Amino acid sequence: MLNKIKALQEEMDAATASTPEEVDELRIKYISKKGSINQLFADFKHVPAEQKKEVGKAINELKEFALTKINSLKEAFESGAAGTTGLDLTRPGEPVKLGTRHPLSIVKNEIINIFGRLGFTVAEGPEIEDDWHVFSALNFPPEHPARDMQDTFFIEKDPDVLLRTHTSSVQIRVMERTQPPIRAIFPGRVFRNEAISARSHCIFHQVEGLYVDENVSFADLKQTLVYFAKELFGEDSQIRLRPSYFPFTEPSAEMDVSCSICGGEGCNVCKYTGWLEILGCGMVDPNVLEACNIDSKKYTGFAFGMGIERITMLKYGIKDIRHFFENDVRFLKQFESAT
Ligand code: DAH
Repeated sequence: MLNKIKALQEEMDAATASTPEEVDELRIKYISKKGSINQLFADFKHVPAEQKKEVGKAINELKEFALTKINSLKEAFESGAAGTTGLDLTRPGEPVKLGTRHPLSIVKNEIINIFGRLGFTVAEGPEIEDDWHVFSALNFPPEHPARDMQDTFFIEKDPDVLLRTHTSSVQIRVMERTQPPIRAIFPGRVFRNEAISARSHCIFHQVEGLYVDENVSFADLKQTLVYFAKELFGEDSQIRLRPSYFPFTEPSAEMDVSCSICGGEGCNVCKYTGWLEILGCGMVDPNVLEACNIDSKKYTGFAFGMGIERITMLKYGIKDIRHFFENDVRFLKQFESAT
């Protein structure tokens, strides 16, 4: 028994550790419940009575020795003094975790790229607006419901300061400071006083488009939108235009794209119609051009506006608009490989 104790002490004396994990391994090996020292205590009952005193003392000393040794190794790592023994400066560092682009940014950038290939530049305008740029210059009649507090967030009344309800306001800002030709898109955040649900949110994003020049026709609008739909949803995509009404365009239309999920066969996403509504558009109303001091006899133009959330939901099969604003990394991480 005494020989065994001596051998263990020598073994421990020689033991080294180059990482904190190795220190822990030594601790487990020698002084844990199942470690060698406890084993000695277990064997102690077989020691003949006359040797008990000597052996007991030796085991206790060994235990003391083991505790001191392991504590000093541990402290060396904790204080950073392990330097040459433990710290390996050639080990690779912790990988830096990269974030991923938000799906709304991915789709917004894709839309900017598509229209960029058709010569559309990008401009932005303020989110806090006045009545003129959001409503009056866009030919909204004074009694239009959008001017109601129920639909629009007002910051101040008389004169009205409000959060823009659509990016059409940027059309006005651009036309006020630029004479045609104008060919640009305006991405941005918009605000509406709506209850938050799976399908609608009080904050969302739009991309507005505007093309004003001599001889711009509805055919130009249609061709631009066909190109856009095919680029965004695939070569097989088809579009259809339905007559609609917006105060700032005449004639106005809403555009549907063939459902890219079922290929037009009908599914629960397109409510079995084969079509998905994705934007509003039309020929810029002459009143709007005149409000911006653009000669409506000389120039014509088209405009369109689309919701980025809706398009992103269709493209990726996302069922609840609230996902975009919660920023749960488990949701965001899924778009890692998207461009
Ligand atoms: N501003 C409209 C909305 O928020 C969308 C829109 C419709 C924009 C037709 C346009 C347009 O430029 O021509 O619902």
